[in-house]
Amino acid sequence: MTNVSWTIAAAFLAAALPDIGLAHGEHHAGTPRDGTAEARNQPAAPAASAANERWRAGHFPNVPLLTHEGRTVRFYDDLLKGKRVVINVIYTECTDECPLMSARLAQVQKLLGESVGKAIFFHSISIDPERDTPAVLKAYREKFGAGPGWLFLTGNKEDITRVQKKLGLWSRTDAYDPDGHLASLMIGNEPNGQWMRQSAVDDPRFLATKISTFLAGWKNQRDVPRESYAQARPIEGLDAGSYLFRTRCAACHTIGNGDAVGPDLLGVTSIRERSWLARYIKTPDKVLAEKDPVATVLFAKYRGVRMPNLGLGDGDVQALIRYLEAQTAASRQAQLKDPAVR
Ligand code: HEC
Repeated sequence: MTNVSWTIAAAFLAAALPDIGLAHGEHHAGTPRDGTAEARNQPAAPAASAANERWRAGHFPNVPLLTHEGRTVRFYDDLLKGKRVVINVIYTECTDECPLMSARLAQVQKLLGESVGKAIFFHSISIDPERDTPAVLKAYREKFGAGPGWLFLTGNKEDITRVQKKLGLWSRTDAYDPDGHLASLMIGNEPNGQWMRQSAVDDPRFLATKISTFLAGWKNQRDVPRESYAQARPIEGLDAGSYLFRTRCAACHTIGNGDAVGPDLLGVTSIRERSWLARYIKTPDKVLAEKDPVATVLFAKYRGVRMPNLGLGDGDVQALIRYLEAQTAASRQAQLKDPAVR
């Protein structure tokens, strides 16, 4: 990324930080300003001490959680204190955004390499602790190829809700958001009290750069050679289908580079009927629930990872199918010219 855009990003960040504090205040039951039962039972608020400041030690509940390996850890002492972290909330039965987030984070982990587990720690906390036992979480993280330094955690439901609220990863449940989770990451540098919220489903390279740069306090930007926009390559592939594919599908699928979390989609437009494809891409959960034979075989073959329902509109789905068709045709052309190319 060029220096100019980093400067813009830094300005955004500066503007975003107080926002995080606000969003977080809104969501919090139990802080003295919001008049909840917990707040009313408190004596007058103690004078702010460093330990009690927002996003500092006293802010986070030190509740016990269980890792996917069955180890008991304390949320603040073991998972946050002195660490740089990336935290999200998921549940394994989730059929929309969570599988995309998990696949995306697995890509980000690969890009960040060995620093995960040493300088940066990933924590994915289940909001369905009854179902998500350590064993279930262990199987789930293996499906997505999560590496060392990335814990999946479960625990007591109330404790987890408190953690969610304190992290700003909680939302009210309603008809539109029945499970109350957000497709966001909280990226935190606990020692210096800086936190930022970030969409969990951005481009993986962008996410990896943003995470490492934010957590290094933007310091590793100093030595970046300065380039001008005049040297930028023209941006290609900005049509809707290609954009949707990169942001919503490429964490799990390739077109012509082999199976990933999900099947290689090269040629899928030739082997499946268009109406089936459209329905499947839009509502794979429904198609599977109806025991559609193709969906059932695919589900079994891909070791139980679900193709998520990403809430796409009909126009998005058609753009994606056109993109899959065009990519398949382009690859056939390449093959005709040079049979060695797949
Ligand atoms: C979290 C991973 C994940 C994401 C994100 C994802 N898929 Fe899938 N997809 C899968 C899995 C896994 C399967 C295999 C079926 C199953 O297990 O449910 C699949 C199956 C499919 C199939 C059926 C393939 C066939 O042979 O018929 C199509 C088509 C498809 N996905 C398209 C998409 C598109 C388009 C997107 C983006 C809008 C997308 N997928 C996003 C995981 C994912």
